[in-house]
Amino acid sequence: MTLQLGDLAPDFTAETTQGSIAFHAWLGDSWGVLFSHPKDFTPVCTTELGTVAKLKGDFDRRNVKVIGLSVDPVDSHVRWEEDIAETQGQAVNFPMIGDPDRKVADLYGMIHPNASDTMTVRSVFVVGPDKKIKLSITYPASTGRNFDEILRVIDSLQLTSKFSVATPANWKDGDDVIIGAAVTDEEAKAKFPGGWTTVKPYLRVLPQPGR
Ligand code: BEZ
Repeated sequence: MTLQLGDLAPDFTAETTQGSIAFHAWLGDSWGVLFSHPKDFTPVCTTELGTVAKLKGDFDRRNVKVIGLSVDPVDSHVRWEEDIAETQGQAVNFPMIGDPDRKVADLYGMIHPNASDTMTVRSVFVVGPDKKIKLSITYPASTGRNFDEILRVIDSLQLTSKFSVATPANWKDGDDVIIGAAVTDEEAKAKFPGGWTTVKPYLRVLPQPGR
């Protein structure tokens, strides 16, 4: 069955480039990003892994642990990491799961047979500190991901988990936000004493809280 938003992220143990990991215990109180790539030693994947490694500080600042996965074995990941460091100018600095028996890939529905019977698609799951799935996105093998977008969504997820707000299209950290549709004006007065701008009764805008 397809994993849906709000579902518990399935727990698992797996071999990784940084040793054996029990997923939930490894996450601890952190947020998590679990992402799959189709195959080691392939061009788009090489750029993606280097890009994620360069963003490690940005994930750390947000209290997010990142973990990669493909159906290649760990020893293949380890050999490939040399190429990633050489070609992307950045060593891989997060664990990569070797999943040749597809245990984790099947748990998370990362193999889409109409795309490929043998390779994982480019899945991204963001997991909250409550171990629930907050975001899932699927990209085809031919399209490298924009990991700045993943960070942007995490900013929104973290903000909206603290305040009764939503973030508009193309929002980025620091931009104005929207009062959640379920919040009445009476409730909003207590939550946002600094006030807001009513563009329409259902569209109430205010500066990002907590800054
Ligand atoms: C790539 O990373 O370039 C790639 C991997 C698998 C299939 C197609 C492209």
